[in-house]
Amino acid sequence: MDQFHLFPPQASTTAQQVDWIFFALTAITIFFCAVVFLPILFFAVKYRRGSKADRSNAPSESLLLESGWTIVPLVISIGLFGWGAITYFHLERPPSDALQLQVVATHWMWKLQHAEGKREIDELHVPLGRTVALTMTSQDVIHSFFVPAFRVKQDVVPGRYTGAWFKPTKAGEYHLFCSQYCGTHHSAMIGRVVVIEPLDYERWLNAGAPGETIARAGERLFRDRGCSGCHGANSKFHAPPLENLYGKPRPLATGEMITADERYLRDSIFLPGKEIAAGYENIMPSYAGQLSEEEIMQLIAYLKSLANEPSPNEPNEKRD
Ligand code: CUA
Repeated sequence: MDQFHLFPPQASTTAQQVDWIFFALTAITIFFCAVVFLPILFFAVKYRRGSKADRSNAPSESLLLESGWTIVPLVISIGLFGWGAITYFHLERPPSDALQLQVVATHWMWKLQHAEGKREIDELHVPLGRTVALTMTSQDVIHSFFVPAFRVKQDVVPGRYTGAWFKPTKAGEYHLFCSQYCGTHHSAMIGRVVVIEPLDYERWLNAGAPGETIARAGERLFRDRGCSGCHGANSKFHAPPLENLYGKPRPLATGEMITADERYLRDSIFLPGKEIAAGYENIMPSYAGQLSEEEIMQLIAYLKSLANEPSPNEPNEKRD
C-alpha cells in the first residue's frame, strides 16, 4: 500500500486545469454546507425546548437575506459554468500538431496503433512533451478510455469515432483503465501508458522489423479488397475518385453539403447508400462485417494520405 495516493499524479498539461475546477467545486461545496448546517446547529441549541431564549418579535422577512441567497449563488454558478465550458472546449479540441494514434477497444483489451505502423496491446508508448491525439472506436460494446494521471476519460463507442488528446509532462508509467462496465472481464481491461523521452520513443518505434505504416496497410487493402477496381483511375464503373477528398466539402445527391471526415468515410464503407455523392448512383455494396475496425482505420489513413494537404504528422508516402 505504499503506492496509495489520494490523487493521481499530474502528468499532462491539462491535469492542473481539471484539478483546479475540482478543488474549487469542493471548496464551494464545503463553504455552503457550513453556511447551511452551522446555523441549523446554532438555532437548534439556542431554541431547544425549555431554553430561555427570546422568542418574541421573530422577523418574517428580510429583503437583504433573500436577494443575497439568490444573487450570490447565481453569480457563482454562472462563473463555474463559464470556467467549466472554457476548459471543456480546450479539452475537446486537439492541437493541430498532434501525433495521431488509432485505438480499437474490444472484449477485453486495448489495441493501439501508431501512424508508423507499430502496434501495441494494453500498452501505449508516447514521447514526453508531444501532443498525442487518439481516434477511437469499439468492436463490440461501449468502453471508456481513462488515464487518471492525464485527466483523460472518453467513451469508446461502437459504430462511431471518438477522440481524446493529451500532452504528457512527466516521464513514467501510468494506469490505463476501462471505465465503462463492459462485461465479465471489465475490471481486467487495464493497461499502462509509458511516457518516454522523444529520442527513446524514436528508437522504440524503429526497433524490430520495419512494419507497414497505417496508410500503407490501407493502400494494400484498397487494392486487395477491390476498392481500386471501381475507384481507380481506369475503372469502367462510375465511382467517385477519392484523391483530395479527405477534409473537403462534399456535395451529396440530396443537395446537402457535408465535410468528408472520418465519420463520413467510415459510413460510406459500411452504409454506402446513406450519403450518395452528387452525380453518382447508389451502386456500391456494403462492406459491413467484411472489414475490421482496424482495417477501416487503415483505409481512412490511406485516403487521408491522398488528400492534398497531409496533416503534419501523417508521413507522406514517398516510396512507390
Ligand atoms: Cu471495457 Cu470496461
